[in-house]
Formats: sequence, C-alpha cells, structure tokens
Amino acid sequence: MKDKRQITATQVRLKAYPQGVVGADTWSITNDLPAEPAAGQLLVRMSCISVDPGMRGWITPKRSYMPPVQPGEVMRAFGVGEVVASQSEKFAPGDMVTGFTGVQTLGLLDARTVRKIDLRFASARDYLSGLGMTGYTAYFGLLDVGKPQPGQTVVVSAAAGAVGSVVCQIARINDCRVIGIAGGAEKTAWLKDALGVDAAIDYKAGALDAALDAACPDGIDLYFDNVGGDILEAVLMRINRHARIVVCGGISQYADVEQAKGPANYLQLVTQSATMQGFTMRDYMHRVPEALMALATWRAEGKLQFREHVVQGIDSFPEAFDMLFSGANHGKLLIDLEERN
Ligand SMILES: NC(=O)c1ccc[n+]([C@@H]2O[C@H](COP(=O)([O-])OP(=O)(O)OC[C@H]3O[C@@H](n4cnc5c(N)ncnc54)[C@H](OP(=O)(O)O)[C@@H]3O)[C@@H](O)[C@H]2O)c1
Repeated sequence: MKDKRQITATQVRLKAYPQGVVGADTWSITNDLPAEPAAGQLLVRMSCISVDPGMRGWITPKRSYMPPVQPGEVMRAFGVGEVVASQSEKFAPGDMVTGFTGVQTLGLLDARTVRKIDLRFASARDYLSGLGMTGYTAYFGLLDVGKPQPGQTVVVSAAAGAVGSVVCQIARINDCRVIGIAGGAEKTAWLKDALGVDAAIDYKAGALDAALDAACPDGIDLYFDNVGGDILEAVLMRINRHARIVVCGGISQYADVEQAKGPANYLQLVTQSATMQGFTMRDYMHRVPEALMALATWRAEGKLQFREHVVQGIDSFPEAFDMLFSGANHGKLLIDLEERN
C-alpha cells in the first residue's frame, strides 16, 4: 500500500531566465507525479537539497561549465534522497544516493548521475556540506590551487559561508595566519570565537582598506576569493611577491555576469609576479576520495566543524536562494525535506 509520501510530488521549475535580480517570476512550483522508472532510471524521494550560489550561473543562458537549465525544467540542484524504485541493477529500493537530484521532493533520476552514500559514515547533510562538494571545493581550491605554506598570510572572503569557513579551518590546520572577511558582527565574531581565525573583517562596516592594513601588516600571500568586486581589488593592492589568488567564485558579480567588473588593478599581478587561477570542482572529481578522507579525519580529530543553515520545505527554495545574495545564510544552506515531504 502506498503512503502519502509516495504519491505526492512537488517541483521547483525555472519559469524564465532572470534579467539581473532573481525574483518571484523566475520560478514556478508544480505538483507533477513522476512516471514509473524506465530502464536505467531511479525514482528517488529527496530528503535534503543544497542551495548554492552557482545556481545563478545555471539559470543564465551564457557560456559556462555546464549547459543552462531550460525554462520549464526542474531547477538543477545537488541533493540526497532515498531510492523508492529502481530500474538499474546498481541500485535497490532503500539505497541512499547523492548527485544532481533537482529541486523536487520526488523525481526520476538517471542512475548514472548519482552515487550511493552510507549514512552510517556521515549524515545526509554532511554529504552536501563539509563532506560533499562544499568541502571538496575548499580542500582542492586551497591546497591544490593555492598551495599555502606554513606561516603565510591567507585571506578568505565570504569566510563565514559554506566554502569559506572550511577554507579558513584548513588554512589553520596548515599553520597559516588566517584572515576572514564576512558581512556583519555575528559572522566576524563566529569566525574568531568558533573557528579561531587570527583576524576577522566586517566588510559591511566600511574602512576595508584600513582593516586589511591592520590585519595583514606583512602583506597577503594567498587570497581565496569567493566574491570578486571591490574586495578583490582591495586585496590585490596588498599582495606579496609570488602571491596566489584562488578564484573560487565572485558572488558580488553574479547578478549580471556580462557586466561583471574585473579588477582594474590586475597589473599588481605583474609587479608582484603573482598568479590568479580559477578552478571548478569538476577538475578534481577523480580525487574526491582523497578529500573525503582528509575532511572526515580532521573532523573526527575535532579540527574541523561544519556550520549548516537549514530551512524547511521545498516551497522555501525561492526565499532560500535570495539568502545567499543578501548574506542571510549562516553556513551551508540546505533545504530539509524530511518533515514536510
Ligand atoms: N569553483 C567551484 O567549484 C565552486 C564550488 C562551490 C562554490 N563556489 C563558489 O564559492 C562561493 C561561496 O559559495 P558557498 O556555497 O560557500 O556560499 P556561502 O558563502 O555559504 O553563501 C554566500 C555568501 O556570499 C556572501 N555575499 C553575497 N553577496 C556578496 C557581495 N556582494 N559581496 C561580498 N559577499 C557577498 C554572503 O556572505 P556575507 O554575509 O559574508 O556577505 C553570503 O552568505 C561562491 O562564489 C560560489 O559560487 C565555487
């Protein structure tokens, strides 16, 4: 006999590509029941959905690292869910999986796009947070692209966010001097008190240049950039010789990537023989087990904590998405579907 959870389904779909700011007319909410899975497909009931700044790029019909979501399609998202029915020999009902689940409560997924997870090892939230893409991005971006050395000064923007907070902690584990930049007193206090960064700067309080001078008297060796814009320019003026700028993202420029403002002072890279390198996590998919092992070990040793900001219910997606851009999220932003699914 089917219970209620098996016969209801809700999807958040892209209604139309936004022009600039994402608004109510960007999304539509539907209640379409999925068909029975065909060969190679799984019917999956989602338990948790990740809300990511990169989604802004997925609803922009421009050249990127993935094709854009098409109007009418279910919004792309990472998630975790339970297999309800399977037409793949690799999965059975009851298996927990993660991958591109979409912003939906129940959906048909291609079995090749998800992988099994073991909830005895970590929670569903962990697999979307510090032990998932967020953690891997921080790990490879900082260690592989940034190559921090003990004693170096590392500056991190959006430092109290999902990726940034893990970067700060891995930099500390590597004996760096860590300066976190974030918006607001609560976030900077958390960076100092909970994560133990050497200094935290509230960029919304103004006087960013003076604050960077005070926090980085010996200049900046490594900048992990999540935001771009004015903060990137201010950091560039203070980089040391052979500094590395890791371009993980540029959320301050996501509203209109065509008009994105590049750093006018990029020639600082020349004068300081510095490098600026972008990356995406897909460059490192073949090394995920290495990151997972390191992150899980550090957490077990009490050296790494994950801060999660959980909202309830699929209907909260539009509001949750906006939180990333106002800074209202405090940690990895997740939608919990267990209670109202
Ligand atoms: N390269 C990759 O493979 C990869 C993978 C994952 C994520 N990313 C990038 O990593 C960055 C962080 O992502 P996340 O998932 O960890 O999100 P997050 O940091 O948890 O949330 C986004 C944060 O960005 C800050 N922000 C928003 N607008 C801003 C602005 N105009 N100026 C300065 N800060 C602003 C806000 O924090 P405040 O309150 O501090 O302003 C907000 O909380 C994003 O740029 C994302 O695109 C890249």
